[in-house]
This record gives sequence, C-alpha cells and structure tokens, in this order.
Amino acid sequence: MEAVFLAHKAGYETVVIDRRGDAPALSICDEPHVLNPLNDPDRAMRVFRTCDAVLPACEEHDLLMRLDAVLSEAGIPFLFDIRAYDVSQSKLESNELMRAAGVPLPGRWPECGFPVIVKPSSLSGSLGVSVAHDDAELEAGVRRVESMGQEVVIQEFVHGRSLSMEVIGDGRTARSYIVTEVVLDGGYDCKEVRCFPGMLTPEDEEGFRGCSERTAERLGLRGLMDVEAIQTPKGLRYLEIDARIPSQTPAAILTATGINLLRQLVESRLGQWTGVSSSRGAGIYWHLHFKDGALETTGEKEFSHVRSPRMESGLFGSDDSISDYSPGAEEWHGTFMVSGATPEEAEDRRLSVMRAIMEACGVDSLSDASPKEV
Ligand SMILES: Nc1ncnc2c1ncn2[C@@H]1O[C@H](COP(=O)(O)OP(=O)(O)O)[C@@H](O)[C@H]1O
Ligand SMILES: [Mg+2]
Repeated sequence: MEAVFLAHKAGYETVVIDRRGDAPALSICDEPHVLNPLNDPDRAMRVFRTCDAVLPACEEHDLLMRLDAVLSEAGIPFLFDIRAYDVSQSKLESNELMRAAGVPLPGRWPECGFPVIVKPSSLSGSLGVSVAHDDAELEAGVRRVESMGQEVVIQEFVHGRSLSMEVIGDGRTARSYIVTEVVLDGGYDCKEVRCFPGMLTPEDEEGFRGCSERTAERLGLRGLMDVEAIQTPKGLRYLEIDARIPSQTPAAILTATGINLLRQLVESRLGQWTGVSSSRGAGIYWHLHFKDGALETTGEKEFSHVRSPRMESGLFGSDDSISDYSPGAEEWHGTFMVSGATPEEAEDRRLSVMRAIMEACGVDSLSDASPKEV
C-alpha cells in the first residue's frame, strides 16, 4: 500500500500484482492483477513488460529469486538487491558486517549482563523476540527461538527511542536520507512514525549517516535499505538493517519533507538522479482502528486488515490518508498523515484530526498502547 502511495505521489502509474484477490494495495493502484508469478510466469511477464521498473513488496525468497532472474534476463529494472537482502536477513551476518564497519552495536552476551534481548537471526516483524532478566528467562527465550528453527542472537537490552534511517546505494557509494522515530504499540509493532527536524544533535545525526552509509557501502548495496537504531544515553546503538523498501517511514518522510524515497530509488537505478531538495518540515504518520464504537491506535499488522482502501487527501483535515472509513461503518482501519512547519504544528494538526474522527464516530476516548517498561 505504501509503495503504491509513494509511486502515486511521484506521478507514476502503478500496476500491482498480488496472488491474493483481497490484497489491500489492489484497490488503490491504477492497474490491479491477481496472479502468482511463480505459478503463472507467462502472464506475469506480459504485465512486467509493460512496466518501466518492478518493485517487490514481499519477503518470499523463492519469488524474489525468480523475479531477480527473469527480470534481469528481460532487461527490466528490478528495484531490489537480492544479495544485500540476503545478508540483511541474517542478523548474525549483518551484525558482523556492521561491527567490521565500526558501527556500535548493543553489548555482547555474556559481558553485557542482564537484561538481554533474545531474538531469531533471520525472522522479521519482532517474531520470537523476548527480553530475559535471568538465566531461566534466557533459557526459555533461547528454546523458543530454536524451536522456530532459528539461530539465536543474544545481546544487551538497550533503552531509548527507536530511530530509522534510509540509505540508497548504486553498488559503490551510498547516500543517507532523513531520520525518523518509530513509535511502537503494546506488541512492539510500529503504530506511528514521526519525522521531526532536530530530533538528533548534529553530531548524532552525522554519526547515524556515517554508520548507515559505511554499512551500505560495505554491503555494496544497489538499492534501498533502512537502518534501525536505539538512541541510548551512551549514544546510538544499531539493531539491524533491512535491504528492502520499508513500509512506513518513507511516507512519513514524504509528508514532512516532500522527499519521495521511491522516486529517489527509481531515479538512482535508472541513472536519472536529479538530486534532493533539502526541506526541514515535520510530519506524523499513524494508524487507527475503529470497531464496535471503540477507537484505538494500532500497529501496521492490524492496519493490514484494511479492506479495499482508498487514498484520500483532506480526510478529517489530514494531508493524506489510506483508509476504508465510511460514515457510520461499524469497523474501519486508517493511516493518516499530517505535516507542519514545526513539530508542534504537526502535533496540533494530528490532535485536530483525532478530534474530528472522534466526533464523527461518536467516541470520547482513545486506547493507545505502548510496550511495557523493562
Ligand atoms: N538489543 C535490543 N535492545 C532493546 N530492544 C531491542 C533490541 N533488539 C531488538 N529490540 C526490540 O525488538 C524489535 C525487533 O527487533 P529487530 O532487531 O528490529 O528485529 P526484527 O524487526 O527483524 O524482528 C526492535 O524494533 C526493538 O523494539
Ligand atoms: Mg526491526
């Protein structure tokens, strides 16, 4: 959905292929196709041949490998670096790469002591991630990860805001973009992205850029990746990299600054890069779920249950939205985006969107969960 949103904002015509007929991106694109390129390669190829570039928004390895092979053979730009993606999918491998690039990671077990984070090396979306305060919890966490058939990463639990930075590489050099803050719900899923200028000191921002670009260059990245860090009192500590289009941070960056990372990726790949105009605006992007008279903020997993959404500017006073809201509906999901010249202005606009929604839906309270304190 977010990739279609970004492409639409860049003025591109969008063609979506999904094997599921109820995939929400189908209703917001210009040309939907329900098909599985693995089962129906000829039909898929006929669609790909009408496209200037192909961007995968899935993490199925078989499909990604097949697309990489057939699109490169057909000479159709594939906006994806499968080799970098494979490294980024393994936290053991990418942590080694970052360490070698001089990037500060959370402390190693056992030197770091409790509490620690126990997580699988090659899953995503916080699956199998747990916190351990003692040997028993550590053992339970390790068993859980191993029962998922995964290698285990154990590292210092670091406290602080979750930050993200995107990088685009051309295979040799890499360019970093804008810092965003990722705000988590009770289940550690991202419910909101804030893109505020001055979120980091200039030194910390330089450090974040340097670490992100060095990692991307060491990886030989040809495409887009994001770098996730925690802002601790001792400085930034880097959690992971993911070499694929991130779902939420680019929309927040576009809202705040007008910089469209999808356009940047396309132009970089097609050798048409025209540069970025730096803008220092603020923006907020967040998800809501309304059901049976109750309104809650929600992570992107819940938001993905949106049905036949539409993109709309101005809904409840927001700049942009993706939602299946309709007046009087018993249930709806929505993503809303607001900008402002300053963070305060963006916050005020978010509040006024929330007030308008609560009034329209007749609710007087909002449930807004956050991760438990560790
Ligand atoms: N060392 C750590 N200290 C504190 N929180 C962590 C740590 N590692 C992971 N987390 C939390 O768990 C979430 C998921 O971990 P992450 O390394 O990003 O894996 P993935 O997103 O691939 O599941 C992070 O967004 C963060 O909230
Ligand atoms: Mg993560």
